[in-house]
Amino acid sequence: MKICQRKIARESVFCGSLILVNAKHRLREEREPELSAVRDSRLKMRMQTVAAQALTALIAASERAAWQEEKNRERIVCVSGYRSREEQAGIFARSLAENGQVFTETYVAYPGCSEHETGLAMDLGKEQKEIDFICPEFPRDGMFGVFRRLAPEYGFVERYPAGREEQTGIGAEPWHFRYVGTPHAQIMAERGMVLEEYVRWIRQYELSDNPFLYCAGGKTAAIGYLRVSDRGENVYIAVPGNGTVSISGDNIDGVIVTVEAGER
Ligand code: DAL
Ligand code: ZN
Repeated sequence: MKICQRKIARESVFCGSLILVNAKHRLREEREPELSAVRDSRLKMRMQTVAAQALTALIAASERAAWQEEKNRERIVCVSGYRSREEQAGIFARSLAENGQVFTETYVAYPGCSEHETGLAMDLGKEQKEIDFICPEFPRDGMFGVFRRLAPEYGFVERYPAGREEQTGIGAEPWHFRYVGTPHAQIMAERGMVLEEYVRWIRQYELSDNPFLYCAGGKTAAIGYLRVSDRGENVYIAVPGNGTVSISGDNIDGVIVTVEAGER
């Protein structure tokens, strides 16, 4: 088998689709990511390009499937996507003034601690005349249920489920979806893990010794964690030359490497 060497720079810990951003783990990357508008989004909300493409496809697939199943012709609206640090600070300050501290700390992340600043999160709503900007209505039935069912296949997870507030530090937000990529979204959904738990759980699967193997739909992926922080400037890893390799930081101290073998 052909083996290739890949360099992992120190900064890789702080970027990528699996980074954990919350009150305990601030976003370290300060540059604006490459952004694209989600197609057909009435409000032209933007996300990181890879996430925008996946969400565009997911919304289209959900609408197609729901309409085929003769559910009603409701539509999904992208209510809030990428926010700069300044925008998040403005939203936080406005909410504090209008809604008070308890509500704001439950539903709005502190500036620097919001997933919206990564460009990997989108708040979704049901298309209707009045849409609440902070807590949009995103039901569980009809086409919204279809969207929720298909989301992991497209790399998205409901990020703040009810009952997991202690883990996430945020109130239940059935409207906030986070792109983590595949097959991570599927693994999280199957095991009922939120991102805080997933990045902790995956650490037991060392990249070189015992990667986690995930097989579904004719595809196999090997996923392994690699600690980076206490090493020198750069780390080199050996990966198979015939697979698709993706590397994401965890925003803590390491990277999660995913090698997908493709169709068998
Ligand atoms: N509503 C989520 C927690 C945010 O402000 O990032
Ligand atoms: Zn949100």
